Amino acid sequence: MNVQSSEEQMAALKEENRKLREELDRRNRERIEYLQNVSHQLVAPLNAIKWHIENITSARVGVERAQKVLRSVYSQATIAVHLAKNFALMSNLEADHALNALLEPLEPVNLCRLLINLSDDFQPQGWDREVQIGVEARPLESAPDVLVIKSLVSQVFSNLIENAVKYASKASAIVIDGSHMPTREAVSVNVRNYGIPLKPQDMERIFERGYRTQEAKNMYPAGTGFGLYIAKKIVQLHEGTITVSFDDRRRIVFTVTLPIRALEGKTKERGPKDDSPHRR
Ligand SMILES: Nc1ncnc2c1ncn2[C@@H]1O[C@H](COP(=O)(O)OP(=O)(O)O)[C@@H](O)[C@H]1O
Ligand SMILES: [Mg+2]
Repeated sequence: MNVQSSEEQMAALKEENRKLREELDRRNRERIEYLQNVSHQLVAPLNAIKWHIENITSARVGVERAQKVLRSVYSQATIAVHLAKNFALMSNLEADHALNALLEPLEPVNLCRLLINLSDDFQPQGWDREVQIGVEARPLESAPDVLVIKSLVSQVFSNLIENAVKYASKASAIVIDGSHMPTREAVSVNVRNYGIPLKPQDMERIFERGYRTQEAKNMYPAGTGFGLYIAKKIVQLHEGTITVSFDDRRRIVFTVTLPIRALEGKTKERGPKDDSPHRR
């Protein structure tokens, strides 16, 4: 009886060991794929920058052409910075399963201004496909500032705007609007675009880590499927919500609702004196 039960225990342990090894192998493979993806995606804009610089230094170029090339350099650099930030957030999420380690001071943010600045950053990426980004200032401009971790909230909207440009139909307009929701003490922002199809079963899954639709894979094989996952984590950290739907003009709409002061008292707050000298 005893011999049998110890043999059974041994067999169970062996089985557990085998499963753990399999899991470890799977995770290692995932990590390697992830790192390959990171480097592949970062190399693309850096190569484009190199190519533009070669272009501008080797040929006799007029001022107008040079300005155009420099705008493309700026746009590709924006993509590289954006990707690097997402990858940093991603490694943090993988390590802690939380963004808490990143907690920075809260500061009041005017979402309308932030969105206008981000749209300017991403607009050059839309030029080739005649995609225009527009921010409808009213009524968003009169919404109160939200007290948030600015670098993280910027990343949420960068991810949404980047997607909108990337997946928009050719020669279409992206519209960003929003409003104050006094009853919920929150500010709500919508990013709307006409774009690649999104089926109901995709809409249920696009915030999952790594999920990409087949159409997105065909269009941009190098994507990661991390953008919306990161965005959702950050929004949840701010006790807000993020949803996807279609509006009455059949545009895809991502809606982010951020409470005005949800984190007040729960983390450090940045006073007006040490306000960042940067543009946003
Ligand atoms: N604005 C959009 N229009 C159409 N599809 C979108 C849009 N934003 C996201 N998606 C879909 O959601 C998926 C997940 O997006 P995301 O997490 O940012 O990853 P990635 O952009 O790397 O594919 C995309 O692959 C795409 O299928
Ligand atoms: Mg994306």
